[in-house]
Amino acid sequence: EQIEKGGYEHFMLKEIFEQPNAITNAFRGRLLPALEMIKMEGVQNNLSQFLEAKRIIIVACGTSWHAGLVAEYIIEELTRIPVEVEYASEFKYRNPIITPKDVVIAISQSGETADTLAAIKLAKEQGALVYGVCNVVGSSIARETHAGAYTHAGPEIGVASTKAFTTQITILTLVALHLAKEKGSLTKTEFNELVHELERIPEKVVEVLQVSDAIKEIAQSYAHATNCLFLGRGVNFPVALEGALKLKEISYIHAEGYPAAEMKHGPIALIDENMPVIVIAINKGHYEKTVSNIQEIKSRKGKIIAIVTKGDVVVKEMADHVIEVPETLEWLTPLLTTIPLQLLSYHMAVLLGKNVDQPRNLAKSVTVE
Ligand code: G6P
Repeated sequence: EQIEKGGYEHFMLKEIFEQPNAITNAFRGRLLPALEMIKMEGVQNNLSQFLEAKRIIIVACGTSWHAGLVAEYIIEELTRIPVEVEYASEFKYRNPIITPKDVVIAISQSGETADTLAAIKLAKEQGALVYGVCNVVGSSIARETHAGAYTHAGPEIGVASTKAFTTQITILTLVALHLAKEKGSLTKTEFNELVHELERIPEKVVEVLQVSDAIKEIAQSYAHATNCLFLGRGVNFPVALEGALKLKEISYIHAEGYPAAEMKHGPIALIDENMPVIVIAINKGHYEKTVSNIQEIKSRKGKIIAIVTKGDVVVKEMADHVIEVPETLEWLTPLLTTIPLQLLSYHMAVLLGKNVDQPRNLAKSVTVE
């Protein structure tokens, strides 16, 4: 097992650090900047169904559902096709309206999640095209779907999903770009800018990973916390949800993810000097509004850990701790902002002596509905 961990203390840490390679493997052969194109075979082979789709319905569970929420922002913005994201378990049991004009995208690391599999079967019965995004090759979901793309993240052993999440987002970004190109919903310049920038994401992830030791120190100050709040806006709101889920899963600290602006409708009541608030405050998507949310936390003495864009000065003045991520295009920021949150929950859990790779009560794949 030590050999499999490749010198890392835990599989989770190894998998966090594998993300630059995992993302590269996810887009290899698919992201073709020199040719100014994207090659997603499963999309190409079903192009008319995708382009004529009245809407795309994404079904998934857990972390994969969060990747679906990120993709909702990206696909809608880049392609202007309406997207809905559903918990697979809820979808199946509420007699959903699905027509042959819908495209269903099922996301699953293991490819074995029973609820997701059940949602796929229902969607197929109603005549929808079902596209799968799976990590495990030859898994049940990969076999049940009409078309799809593997994430190629490599085996994920840690129960808390990390590299599966960022590679799922990578694949769904490629799907969005492929459709945008075919649909003409982006200008050539916008398309090429995104494609070139996506190619640079792995090296930027390498840069973010360098903050691991600094995050370990921050974790030391907050490992005693009983509650944590994670805030983000826009495409980084689901990243806040994922950050909270990671912390709950492995450190057993209660955490909630919220859209930053919704804080005033509830969670603000919880804020005092004992409440760490992790805010994704990058310089994209209504940055000034996030800054005023941070002010609201500060005036209630909440402790602020902010994820900011490199070179930020405004939030740095206000926050108790800042973690920098490199500048990138708004739609690609989740691939960077996710990393410090994974590291934060990892270091907190290790400090608390928890079983990071196999947290209590959780399973890597859930094969019961
Ligand atoms: C379990 C795992 C999670 C995972 C979820 C969905 O709860 O512990 O890490 O996100 O299932 O799994 P899937 O394999 O379908 O992505």
